[in-house]
Amino acid sequence: MPDPAPPHMPAGDFRNLAAQTAAWLTGYWERVEHLPVRSLVQPGDILRALPEHAPETGQPLPATLFDDLDRIILPGLTHWQHPSFFAYFPSNISAPAIIGDLLSAGLGVQGMSWITSPACTELEMRVLDWLGEAIGLPNAFLFRGQGGAVIDGTASEAALGMLLAAKRRALRVFPRDGQRAAAQRLTIYTSTQSHSSIIKAAMIAGLALDAEDRKQLRLIETDSNYAMRPDALADAIRADLADGLIPTFISTTLGTTSSTANDPLDAIASAVRSTGATPWLHVDAAHSGAAFICPEHRAPLRGLEHFDSFAFNPHKWLLTNFDCNCLWTRSPRDLIDAMSITPEYLRNQATDSGAVVDYRDWHIPLGRRFRSLKLWLVMRHYGLEGLRAHIREDIALTQLFESLVRADSRFEVVTPRTVNLICFRLAPRPGENPAATDARNKALLDQVNATGMLYFTHTVLPGIGGAPPRYVLRMAIGGVRTEERHVREAWTAIASAAS
Ligand SMILES: Cc1ncc(COP(=O)(O)O)c(C=O)c1O
Repeated sequence: MPDPAPPHMPAGDFRNLAAQTAAWLTGYWERVEHLPVRSLVQPGDILRALPEHAPETGQPLPATLFDDLDRIILPGLTHWQHPSFFAYFPSNISAPAIIGDLLSAGLGVQGMSWITSPACTELEMRVLDWLGEAIGLPNAFLFRGQGGAVIDGTASEAALGMLLAAKRRALRVFPRDGQRAAAQRLTIYTSTQSHSSIIKAAMIAGLALDAEDRKQLRLIETDSNYAMRPDALADAIRADLADGLIPTFISTTLGTTSSTANDPLDAIASAVRSTGATPWLHVDAAHSGAAFICPEHRAPLRGLEHFDSFAFNPHKWLLTNFDCNCLWTRSPRDLIDAMSITPEYLRNQATDSGAVVDYRDWHIPLGRRFRSLKLWLVMRHYGLEGLRAHIREDIALTQLFESLVRADSRFEVVTPRTVNLICFRLAPRPGENPAATDARNKALLDQVNATGMLYFTHTVLPGIGGAPPRYVLRMAIGGVRTEERHVREAWTAIASAAS
């Protein structure tokens, strides 16, 4: 007997199910506020609720889909879209971005080369020029200024791509048979406060054996605001040059993960110049980059004109669903040199003409989704004014939270606020040892989070001037549904749990 025909969903059923799904989602957004922010399930609970084997015979959807979502999936979610989610960094979504993702899925385009869908490539180029201009990047980073840009999945991928481009650029000057040996002499620099993805990139690029290996990787000390110290960077570069090493890549951060500190780009560029070295200079602005849509928050960009690349994640704080990292570089040629390989089966006239962008040469994967659709719809729907209003609203709420913390003498704000994150803690009591202060703060965090009313997280920041590291509470305010009442309620919960 021949196999039965595959039971594809009839078009009318899809139309109905899409509408039902949209209704279920909008219902979820309305009720999410009343759910515990953090999932309360135990390890294995969700696994146990799911059948051990795939169904042999399909059942046309929705069947029990919406019941299963309510019964099995929702209890296992930490609700990142809850208005009282203040943990990590936000992971914004918006209706226009969701429609963009739906369109991307429905069009089913795989945009690896220009020829496989010119619109997928050229919309991305145009939207990235729009966004680059909108956040105040130098013209040389835009396609229209002979630079270029690409949408990656994450900031981690962007940093790895830039490290590989830097490595390629540094090795290219050696004769081919000397490049392997020279690769052992390449060095990279980032601050002690930069994101772990930079060390991971070094591991993947063959410049660190593991996360602890410092033979070719330098972690540069930070100042009392947790920003990279340009003098310490210059010292490290000079020492490496004296040892015959090749300073190749520097990853700076605007908006460090722990405390949103900004490395001083201008001073870093001059410090590097003073050494005579010419490494690739990258900016990882994964979270804080969104704030540059507002001209009044662009001061940290001073000096960017001396840098080679800049990346940030609209999927954190700019209303664009995960995943969407935007990476701009003034030297796309180096990136393409590092990534390009054209097997016969991908050859085509457009590629051979050299007149088109083939994004498969701009990152690690070959295949790619039509991610620019969601960014396009976000920018069309909100306009730059609307995006600025979103950032300004969150910063105003963060200022409110900061004023509440400062007004309570039991607490202290630990680092200067740069955007929408407050690092604070219960202040040490007279004579209290640092471990006891840390323990009180940890207990406070656990107690408040256990209520399920809100969710915030912690970090540990190095002590200043020889002091021990400090356990610090982090409150990141950037949720799409977060209103003043949620911020005030969060503070009331924290202040009343404080001893
Ligand atoms: C400064 C910084 N860089 C990189 C990352 C990693 O982001 P992604 O998940 O996009 O790789 C983060 C994540 O929070 C971050 O804060």
